[in-house]
Amino acid sequence: MRFIGSKTLLLENIKNVIDENVKYAEVFCDIFSGTSVVANFFKKNYKIISNDLLYFSYVVQKATIENNKTPIFANIPKITNPVNYLNNLTNVDLEKLPMKKRFFQNNYSPIGKRMYLTEDNALRIDFARNKVEDWYKKGYIVDSEYYYLIATIIEGIPFVSNISGTYGAYNKKWDKRAFKKFELKTLPVVDNKMKNKSYNVDGVKLLKRINGDILYIDPPYNERQYLPNYHLLETAAKYDNPIIKGITGQRDYSENEKSVFCNKVRAIISFEEMMKNAKFRHIIFSYSTEGLMNISDIEYIMKKYGIIKTYKLYKIPYRRFKSREQKNKKELNELLFYIEKDV
Ligand SMILES: C[S@@+](CC[C@H](N)C(=O)[O-])C[C@H]1O[C@@H](n2cnc3c(N)ncnc32)[C@H](O)[C@@H]1O
Repeated sequence: MRFIGSKTLLLENIKNVIDENVKYAEVFCDIFSGTSVVANFFKKNYKIISNDLLYFSYVVQKATIENNKTPIFANIPKITNPVNYLNNLTNVDLEKLPMKKRFFQNNYSPIGKRMYLTEDNALRIDFARNKVEDWYKKGYIVDSEYYYLIATIIEGIPFVSNISGTYGAYNKKWDKRAFKKFELKTLPVVDNKMKNKSYNVDGVKLLKRINGDILYIDPPYNERQYLPNYHLLETAAKYDNPIIKGITGQRDYSENEKSVFCNKVRAIISFEEMMKNAKFRHIIFSYSTEGLMNISDIEYIMKKYGIIKTYKLYKIPYRRFKSREQKNKKELNELLFYIEKDV
């Protein structure tokens, strides 16, 4: 999934930091998990703890981190493969869904005067989302199956969304991507034979009550909050008929859902709190030279709570900029900080 700050291109670099500094570890925690690519990448090697403030991220984590195999869906009457079933519905089937159950079609398609999704695709999402709730309420699917199915819906939505990058706004003209048929996308599940655990809470607070060996911290690095940029996926995951506002149709969100890392002063205070409370021997911190906190703030805090001589900083040139664009710009790097903590 395309996601601001996704570390898909940095996985090998994170692995290199671990290979260079960590001799032995059992538990890896991805405390700001986002798409879960980092947690999934390391799942084959460690028991995983993952977490994010976004509920849709949590759903994907539950599906791919807590599950150790793809669910089998043995108890849905007359249906053996719910993903195929939902992907192969005809328009006649879909139109049976009552209008009042069509939150996506009524709000995010031209029927609701917005252009995030075509009417047909919005209805497909509504139908799938209602069915999953229905199966869950009737006891046809258990938790692991419920989260897996919602995750397959979430994963499918970006492929047909009429946006450029995030859900902060929709395109004024239809992108051809929007006319592809919406499909649920299955997700690969790695079996590490461990009891992995996912959370949907403030990572700063969570660190007070968990422990492990490797802690990977990848917070937002600028003022841009994640929820307004991914509101539609959050609503698909919660399917809670929220009040939405304005042209962009964003859902309201509470103080608890805002990240402290999108404010410089609060970011520094919270990062220090995390470093202080972390009961992990190896700490890897991802950041950017464009971030609100500067390198000296981060180094000072890490050394205050870690073993000073183990501190290291790895600078990785941004790959998203082509070399021509980068000319005349100040040097932009992704940063990986490492320190060992005596716990
Ligand atoms: C840079 S992204 C992480 C990207 C992730 N490593 C990936 O590869 O997809 C930062 C994430 O931190 C989450 N976040 C921000 N503040 C948080 C907090 N206080 N507790 C938990 N998650 C938080 C955001 O929702 C977002 O998903």
